Amino acid sequence: MRDAGDLMTEQAKDSEENPVESLSRKAAETELAELSRQIAEENKRYHQEDEPRISDGEFDRLKQRAKAIEDRFPELKSSDSQTEKVGAPPAQGFEKSTHLQPMLSLDNAFDEDDVREFDGRIRRFLGLTGSDAVTYTAEPKIDGLSVSLTYQEGQLVKASTRGDGTVGEVVTENVLTIEDIPHSVPDAPDIMELRGEVYMLHSDFVELNEGQKKAEKKLYANPRNAAAGSLRQIDSSVTKSRRLHFFAHGLGMLSGPFEDTNYDAMRRLADAGFIISDGFARCFNVDELLERYRVIEQNRAELGFDIDGVVYKIDNVELQNRLGTSSSAPRWAIAHKFPAETAWTRLEAIDIQVGRTGALSPVARLQPVTVGGVVVSNATLHNEDYVAGRDADGDRIRKSDLRVGDWVKVYRAGDVIPKIADVDLEKRSPDSVPYEFPNTCPICGSEAVRPEGDAVRRCTGDLTCKAQAVERIKHFVSRAALNIEGMGNQYIEQFAEEGLLKDAADIFLLEEKLGEGENRLAERKGWGKLSADNLFKEIRAKQNVPLEKLIFALGIRHVGAGVSDRLARHFGTWGRFTGVVNAARDKSGEQWVELVSLEGVGKVIAESLVAAFDKFESIGFLERLENHLEVEDFVETVQSGSALAGKIVVFTGTLQNMTRAEAKSRAEQLGARISGSVSRNTALVVAGSSPGSKAKKAAELGVEVMDENRWMELLDGKASVRESEQSADVQSDGSEKQQLLADDI
Ligand code: IVH
Repeated sequence: MRDAGDLMTEQAKDSEENPVESLSRKAAETELAELSRQIAEENKRYHQEDEPRISDGEFDRLKQRAKAIEDRFPELKSSDSQTEKVGAPPAQGFEKSTHLQPMLSLDNAFDEDDVREFDGRIRRFLGLTGSDAVTYTAEPKIDGLSVSLTYQEGQLVKASTRGDGTVGEVVTENVLTIEDIPHSVPDAPDIMELRGEVYMLHSDFVELNEGQKKAEKKLYANPRNAAAGSLRQIDSSVTKSRRLHFFAHGLGMLSGPFEDTNYDAMRRLADAGFIISDGFARCFNVDELLERYRVIEQNRAELGFDIDGVVYKIDNVELQNRLGTSSSAPRWAIAHKFPAETAWTRLEAIDIQVGRTGALSPVARLQPVTVGGVVVSNATLHNEDYVAGRDADGDRIRKSDLRVGDWVKVYRAGDVIPKIADVDLEKRSPDSVPYEFPNTCPICGSEAVRPEGDAVRRCTGDLTCKAQAVERIKHFVSRAALNIEGMGNQYIEQFAEEGLLKDAADIFLLEEKLGEGENRLAERKGWGKLSADNLFKEIRAKQNVPLEKLIFALGIRHVGAGVSDRLARHFGTWGRFTGVVNAARDKSGEQWVELVSLEGVGKVIAESLVAAFDKFESIGFLERLENHLEVEDFVETVQSGSALAGKIVVFTGTLQNMTRAEAKSRAEQLGARISGSVSRNTALVVAGSSPGSKAKKAAELGVEVMDENRWMELLDGKASVRESEQSADVQSDGSEKQQLLADDI
């Protein structure tokens, strides 16, 4: 806190000169109004702006005086009295902005084998042999926060945080204070999204925390958190004072050509004034990548800022485009992480948590210990085999099982949840006993079963298990699902405990139940009128939900973000998706066939969907949910007008110019939906050499069949797909235009 602290306010003087007992009601009312205004203002300065003007003691005196007045004149106490507020409502949200190209994450490699496998995967995908040359770049992975900068006609017009990868928060004003970021770039394409990492030097971090400590303010756990906190300031002069730095590491959307290789692109950005990492280099094979890794790791301590690995990228931009992305990360890049930091501590207890799909997960409760600058008190223990020291095949994974009271070695790698690497048997007490994994659910008492061949024991309580219900609701509101901000886990637990939230549909009734009356949210601890109103507003805003987010939000086993995207892309509308899954319960029907033959779905996922819908039906969940939601049809993110947008494509036979994996990925990039079987809805069959019965069937149904040459022309934009009446695009009203043939698979 700044040392303006001992300024004494008028009100504080009043408490000595003008005791509350002697105030008239009118005077009390006036003074309370002024005190409330002042408390709110100081709260905001402290919590939101990091710029307090008065000391904590002074602040407490203001509150005590207000409280004394309220005690004497209870009728003056307002429903959102400042005397009961804890902190201040979160900073008014920053404006949101959709990235022109999504900001993805990176897959990880932890050892040399993983890196060789990455190179192998790329070669297989591109159909290259071991002797074909593949050029990479390598550079440090900065432990900061990623930011996207948009340059329009060479001028920086917008800066936003990563957010959920699709939508970030606009922090332009603050980013403009970072000296490493050029405000203009000569010779850039009209629109250029530039990606990089904002970070803080160790020296600035230490200084910042010293200041925070003196001011009795919250300390930042590490430079990364400090950088994040500093970027999200209301007042950009605070950001400026934090001396943030920036490394450029890539490009997003470009409206025109830039450079053919990543290396040249980075050099050009460096010429334009951006800072690129010292360790940035071109590498011509895996051994050179690994050598670079060793050099960067050796220099790590001298850098003066945190890095947590080395990023390898395919150098050639055209190859990057051919490789494309999975749903969360590019196939052309990987982060080779440094070994995790470790520390020894005592395992104080093993608790069992019950997840959204009923999985019983053991969690280690540890004597708190600092690992790599972060205090760790919990670690994941995965499953019962892991506690017993075995892997899924029964082979030993460490020298012993884990027992309560053991001394264990804990490690963290990057953001990953802490894990246990080792146990010290010499320190083990002779009285220790092996941990006995429960075979009933610790929450609902139902039997917990472990099917043959499955590593996980699951609670069979399903809809009756409160723990599962709470976890499903947490998943529903989470960032990658409906992203209902302000609905923290502790509130979900509390509302569920009170019976206000039984399932996710109840979220939309919260305002009705908690908006007014005795149970008002605004009057609860930790809430005020503003924060309660904001939550209800946020819930209302999220009633418009994109189809793929809603499918993911349902929390169905095996249906993660990637599968949800595929299902949404295929079905297009909520009506068609639910219609087909409901009908797919009849496994002799065409809807079941449609579901299982979808690329990336298959039998296990289809079974899981059908089972989940059965359960949903028994409690009328989806109907109740539908009452509150406006589900947005799936929107293709590919260029509209692309040759394959919305069309169903089937591949058969062997292709010479690219692997099947690449062909499918290229088709998906052009907006196609891939299926494993031919039906009347198929728009195109691409037939390589020795095509199977699929080509024949296509001919019978009058579906277009294309050979590989035409397929290559189509990719080059020189050929198109015949417009056919039978090539059914999904109807936006959800009507069933598709007619699959039961003998399709
Ligand atoms: S390239 C498609 N290069 O790491 C993503 N990322 O774990 C391509 N990061 O979100 C990212 N240093 O914010 C790249 N030299 C580097 C990086 C880097 C740090 C961050 C980035 C990304 C995260 C993924």
